[in-house]
Amino acid sequence: MKIIKARDYVEMSRKAAHYIAAQVLLKPNSVLGLATGSTPLGTYQELIRLYHNGEVSFIQVSSFNLDEYYSLGPNHPQSYRYFMDENFFKQVDIQAENTHIPDGLSPNPDGFSADYDRQIANAGGIDLQLLGIGSNGHIAFNEPGKVFSAQTRLVDLKEHTIEDNARFFDSKDEVPRQAITMGLKSILSAKRILILACGENKADAVKAMLEGPIDPALPASILQLHPNVTLIADEKALGKLSSSNS
Ligand code: F6R
Repeated sequence: MKIIKARDYVEMSRKAAHYIAAQVLLKPNSVLGLATGSTPLGTYQELIRLYHNGEVSFIQVSSFNLDEYYSLGPNHPQSYRYFMDENFFKQVDIQAENTHIPDGLSPNPDGFSADYDRQIANAGGIDLQLLGIGSNGHIAFNEPGKVFSAQTRLVDLKEHTIEDNARFFDSKDEVPRQAITMGLKSILSAKRILILACGENKADAVKAMLEGPIDPALPASILQLHPNVTLIADEKALGKLSSSNS
């Protein structure tokens, strides 16, 4: 895994945006895998700035988001569809019909999930997958578990994740208990992966991802097996790495 160090959140976001913009400049009809959460917010802001400066266009891009809370509709302010529309899609020239996010209200999550994987495959697969990392090492909503092999599906969220994400809701009770998430198998099929990490509360997960055993108890550790992964992280998130990596 290639590691790019950043001083802080602002520098991480700028470097990540440039990395994504370069992908789109080289292949204007790129298929991007996108993430939500607080980590990529600054990256989207920087991409919007690059777009307004005329440096990049998303007109031919298509996108597939990693996940969506199950039970939240697109107009719910905490739904990931709402997040993406407000924080990125509506502010650039990506075509709404080319953006895909799991349907949090699907009455048939199993059928929906199989179809989501088919749509990704039909689009030619993901060229660049953007990821954040949970403080428990989850990627997308693939929580610590016993197996790596899974495609898009409905999952139960761990208590740890519900607590981490409660900051976005009025109370912990309002955090949905389930989500539709791309699986690790779907994520690993991306041609290139860009993972971002910022802050001290990610330092243990980053260390385990890079230096620990490849173990489904730490889902992000499977990225050690992918041939083209770049981590852009700030000094605090890299703070617990052994000297050979830092
Ligand atoms: C979001 C996602 C999650 C987040 C992770 C980190 O689409 O799939 O795995 O990347 O929970 O969240 P933040 O960035 O809020 O710390």
